Amino acid sequence: MADIDYQSLIPNNVNLDSDKRLQRALEKWQPAYLDWWNQMGPESFQLHDVYLRTAVSTEPGGWAQFGYVKMPEYRWGIFLDDKVADRRIPCGDHAGEPVWQEVPGEYRNVLRRIIVTQADTEPASVEQQRWLGMTAPSLYDMRNLFQVNVEEGRHLWAMVYLLHAYFGKDGRDEADDLLARRAGDADKPRILDAFNQPCPDWLTFFCFTCFTDRDGKYQLGALAESGFDPLSRTCRFMLTEEAHHLFVGETGVERILRRGAQLAKLDRNGDARAQGGVPVAMTQKWINYWFCYSIDLFGSEISTNAADFFAAGLKGRWAEAKDYDEHTALNQWHRLATVENGKLTSKEVPLRNAMNEMLRQSYIKDAERVVKRWNQALEEEGSSERITLPDSRFFRRQGIYANLPFGPDGQLLAQDEYDRNIGNWLPSAEDRAYVTSLMHRVQEPGKMANWIAAPKKGIHGNSMDFEYVKPPQA
Ligand SMILES: [Fe+2]
Ligand SMILES: [Fe+2]
Repeated sequence: MADIDYQSLIPNNVNLDSDKRLQRALEKWQPAYLDWWNQMGPESFQLHDVYLRTAVSTEPGGWAQFGYVKMPEYRWGIFLDDKVADRRIPCGDHAGEPVWQEVPGEYRNVLRRIIVTQADTEPASVEQQRWLGMTAPSLYDMRNLFQVNVEEGRHLWAMVYLLHAYFGKDGRDEADDLLARRAGDADKPRILDAFNQPCPDWLTFFCFTCFTDRDGKYQLGALAESGFDPLSRTCRFMLTEEAHHLFVGETGVERILRRGAQLAKLDRNGDARAQGGVPVAMTQKWINYWFCYSIDLFGSEISTNAADFFAAGLKGRWAEAKDYDEHTALNQWHRLATVENGKLTSKEVPLRNAMNEMLRQSYIKDAERVVKRWNQALEEEGSSERITLPDSRFFRRQGIYANLPFGPDGQLLAQDEYDRNIGNWLPSAEDRAYVTSLMHRVQEPGKMANWIAAPKKGIHGNSMDFEYVKPPQA
């Protein structure tokens, strides 16, 4: 196990010391990164002491250390999982050959593109979430937000390391551009659509961390199966950190659902809103919106790019090495629902061309497990309401179902019927204004905003009234 060197300017377990050119290049990028963080990171909290975890090893179980840190002083660094001895390319035309420790020339451009696209999402989410500290429903939640933010910053470091170490001048230019684009900016937007959407309220934040970070989990999982070994090792460690982001999202939505159900019970007319809560049906609309935006991120159901990435061994399926026996995916087919002449029908496509869809299906199964747990929570609260996931054809802007009038049950509707109902399925301007009206910061330790239930326990064995975020000392 390579221990992390914390003495150097950039903490790392990749022997950065031994490559002076690379070290100097990254040390030059570091102040630009800090400028970006100070400009675009959490607004108004850069001088606060935040109870954060920091990676101190890549050993499962004991990898993190907890303590108060001012965010700009967070020790962002470069941590790769250990090399697996004799690792082989898990899939595609090179399946079974030794993995690459250097970038294969013929895949240089696509590999760079894959890394840049993943990298771009990391700072984007920090930008999207930068105002949320001002309306955190508790110190516990504020701390979790900032934990997610600093780790997305570290994920950017993880990807920038690959760009600097393996892609020469092109890679360094890409690393600079990653600090120049801005989420939601008209001129220099982030690459993917979901990462340009505003994140103005905490219901959005929890849906985002539940569904959009979960897309990240599956993308990282597919890249952990890459034949380019440094990418695989980077992604494996990122997945360790990502688990907490998903926890924040899943439990955040669950706490809003519980509280919505509790407040509905307290109200004479069963109306959570009259009691200052978020009705379960309203939360459902946010879930619909973010689930659909997130499944768009997997790309088109039928994709030659996806086929090429798989064939090249750059990207695998979820748990490719572990869950599959056959790794070429040749002479195999996948049946897909398609639309022809305005009617829903189906067709078979070569499995390699359906690799985006394979990954999306793994994701959807995971999301269904989450919804099951939410419904258990609603049952525990004595509510008869239930959450459902919309069909993967509903409200799509990418892929073969894009912009077609599918309902949440996956049926193709007449356009006017769709238009009449869309306000029942997705957040309306009025819904958004209502949720925004609930957003006020609660900063007394142990206190919780009225619209969200308290979590079951605190962070790292601490109680709920622990001061997770402390204002700067006067
Ligand atoms: Fe990330
Ligand atoms: Fe994340």
